[in-house]
Amino acid sequence: MLDRAKNTTGLRPRAKQSADTAGDLASVLSSKVVGQPDVIGHIVPYIEMFQAGLAPENRPVGVFLLLGPTGTGKTRTVEALAEALHGSHKNILKIDCGEFQMEHEVAKLIGAPPGYLGHRETQPMLSQQKLTSVASEHCGLSLVLFDEIEKAASSLSRLLLGVLDRGILRLGDNSSVNFEKSIIFLTSNLGAKEMMRELRPDFGFQSATGGAAVADVSGKLQSIALASVKRKFSPEFVNRIDHVVTYKPLSPEAFSAITDHEIANLQNHINNRLGAKAFQIEVPYATRQWLIQRGTSPEYGARELKRTVHRHLTQPLASMVARSKVASGSRVRVEVSASGDELSLRLAGAAEVPAPTQPTVLLVDDNRDFLKFLERQMAESGWDLLVAESVPEARKLAAKRRPAAALIDYTLPDASGVELAQHLHKSIPGMHLMLMTSSVLREDDEAVCQEHGFPILRKPFLAADAMALIRKRLAGGKRS
Ligand SMILES: Nc1ncnc2c1ncn2[C@@H]1O[C@H](COP(=O)(O)OP(=O)(O)O)[C@@H](O)[C@H]1O
Ligand SMILES: [Mg+2]
Repeated sequence: MLDRAKNTTGLRPRAKQSADTAGDLASVLSSKVVGQPDVIGHIVPYIEMFQAGLAPENRPVGVFLLLGPTGTGKTRTVEALAEALHGSHKNILKIDCGEFQMEHEVAKLIGAPPGYLGHRETQPMLSQQKLTSVASEHCGLSLVLFDEIEKAASSLSRLLLGVLDRGILRLGDNSSVNFEKSIIFLTSNLGAKEMMRELRPDFGFQSATGGAAVADVSGKLQSIALASVKRKFSPEFVNRIDHVVTYKPLSPEAFSAITDHEIANLQNHINNRLGAKAFQIEVPYATRQWLIQRGTSPEYGARELKRTVHRHLTQPLASMVARSKVASGSRVRVEVSASGDELSLRLAGAAEVPAPTQPTVLLVDDNRDFLKFLERQMAESGWDLLVAESVPEARKLAAKRRPAAALIDYTLPDASGVELAQHLHKSIPGMHLMLMTSSVLREDDEAVCQEHGFPILRKPFLAADAMALIRKRLAGGKRS
């Protein structure tokens, strides 16, 4: 998939292939940037236009302002695009606007005019040569990123105005840089504080259906973002932006997917670097949850996740390797320590079965067909499932395997599902319990569910709904 996306060359009009490529590009991007489908939907058509040779003249191919809470993937989007188009996240002309907070620093971007002392020694940061160097043989489009634009001195936005408007930047020595084969991304956390205020009451919410709260709030975030953009930038500047895109806060499921990516990246890194000496890391589900809890927050999104993985996984692994404790081909299992404060690494025994990396879920229902159906659907998604048709069977399995969650039918042959849920709640602290029913719950049972926060799924429901509920609980809900 990636290869085809990479093979597209600049301006050759190849309509059919470009369309295919755009489809591929969208899927490559959404595998790298999790949970922001709108963003990708806005960007891909512009790339397509460039690849078809139909981008307008005398202006950049596209100008995007990416807004939204910290750590939701704004910068990552541009890196992912560089990887998809050019094969490396380094193919970006990136301006860290934090380095241009003073007016005289902005001058470094365009170089000093002749007559200034040492003007020959100062290379402008934005030169035609630098712009061309970030394109590649695969694709002639240069990606330009002005990161965290709100930090730059105001003369930067004046300087940018000409670029956005005519696609031309005049340098200090009076030569000019042409941006017609560039796409420009501006990122900013403008309005992020207000967005947080809007979001805070929604974080940590525990609704059975979920999802709705973020969807409700995203329209509001967009208007907060637009209002703060209008306060900060002049109307001419705002008018020249093709799209102002607001990133959504990431859901627990998205955090979970990003964590899986980080761990997969680490494994790839081990394989690539150590070659024949490589070993396997085994990161069980509970360890992944621990990393998510440490590395993600409403304030910083997934920003700390990489650092958390680095500190608690990569560094201890490296010291194990350095002390020659890891033989090639062995397996290193990473578990949460007994105190819960750190991760412990140990060599897994040859006979030891790999721990599941996806949640183990117990399904309890005496309707065998229903059980089989649900089991099949969930197993297809890589879930580790235990099934029981009676209360004693369920208790025994739960005690032995300690699943992360259970979905229990309300009417079981030997007892009520609520009783079983209560029992499991006591005997396995932290297990997530959910009920399903086709009838109305007795008032006292309803009250027990309320008290313990056991969500109730009403039959009939789609397997996907059940899975979404369980995922949400597992990824977001603090263990009791
Ligand atoms: N939507 C996302 N998809 C994948 N990774 C993400 C996403 N959001 C954040 N991350 C992770 O968090 C890090 C910081 O995200 P970044 O894009 O720099 O945040 P910001 O929105 O503040 O620019 C990324 O390098 C990546 O590891
Ligand atoms: Mg950023």
